Amino acid sequence: MTLVFSTINMKGGVGKTTLTVNLATCLVRDHQKRVLIVDLDSQISATLSVLSPQDFGKLRRGRRTLSYLIDKVIRPYIVRKFSTPDMILKSVCDLPGLDLLPGDIELYDEYIVAETLYKRTAEAADSQKFAEVWVQFEKKLMQSILEPIRDQYDYVLMDCAPGYNLLTRSAIVASDFYLLPARPEPLSLVGIQLLQQRIAKLKAQYDPTLTANLLGIVFILSGGLFSGRYYSQVMQRIKQDFEPNYLFDTTIPMDVNVAKAVDGFTPAVLSTPNSSGSRAFGKLTGEFLEKLLSVT
Ligand SMILES: Nc1ncnc2c1ncn2[C@@H]1O[C@H](COP(=O)(O)OP(=O)(O)OP(=O)(O)O)[C@@H](O)[C@H]1O
Ligand SMILES: [Mg+2]
Repeated sequence: MTLVFSTINMKGGVGKTTLTVNLATCLVRDHQKRVLIVDLDSQISATLSVLSPQDFGKLRRGRRTLSYLIDKVIRPYIVRKFSTPDMILKSVCDLPGLDLLPGDIELYDEYIVAETLYKRTAEAADSQKFAEVWVQFEKKLMQSILEPIRDQYDYVLMDCAPGYNLLTRSAIVASDFYLLPARPEPLSLVGIQLLQQRIAKLKAQYDPTLTANLLGIVFILSGGLFSGRYYSQVMQRIKQDFEPNYLFDTTIPMDVNVAKAVDGFTPAVLSTPNSSGSRAFGKLTGEFLEKLLSVT
């Protein structure tokens, strides 16, 4: 059975993309799983973590990115040549089993989305409200994009943009679980709680059985200011606020090899497998699989 995950945090720069690509790579390399990375962020960081800008440029010129598939859902009346399987890049980083659905710097046009949904509302016979049409669209968007390929993978990992945009909400609805990377800092705790509240609201708005549950919070250590005694105090507060099964025991240390890996368009766990960061991602992957066994 395929399990679908979203990596989310409203805060930027906390390590969402780094976690997504390194976890995906470890699942394939160390545990022989079939994994698809989906890049839902117009910063295309996940795409460029496994693919050079030149290769991405070629895909974009050929319209072989997620943006084509999103437009297909928004404007189904346009006849199309390609569908989801045509967009997937197989064996990225020369690793059979690791596939990518590349993102794009322009994923969708908000004006076209609003216009299309407004027209749909006006044409609906049963006087549906605009808000209802919008919710239905969000619910369907990522689910319908993943539908044709989901059986081909053990895990689909979607890397979301910071904030809480349409694609993130649609990804949450299409997911079985979400992963929450965070820095152990006071404000990031507030961010986690805000996100939890929003997801609860989303569950109430959609079908509660369809929405994702938190698999766990992964702490990416900040180093510098937030280390030593102060770090221990913050971690103590976190442990009081969250049930232990929602926290991964493995934390990811700051490691310059992890940051540098993007230069080579290869995740750190492949380029520097013995660095402290890479070893932590390996350990985290084991814990990820154990957690899944206990909740599925
Ligand atoms: N363990 C680590 N050690 C060193 N650098 C790291 C580590 N994890 C992430 N980084 C670096 O921190 C920066 C932010 O990480 P990343 O892009 O994964 O965050 P993000 O949450 O996806 O950001 P955004 O919100 O912009 O999508 C990147 O430059 C990344 O290389
Ligand atoms: Mg990112």
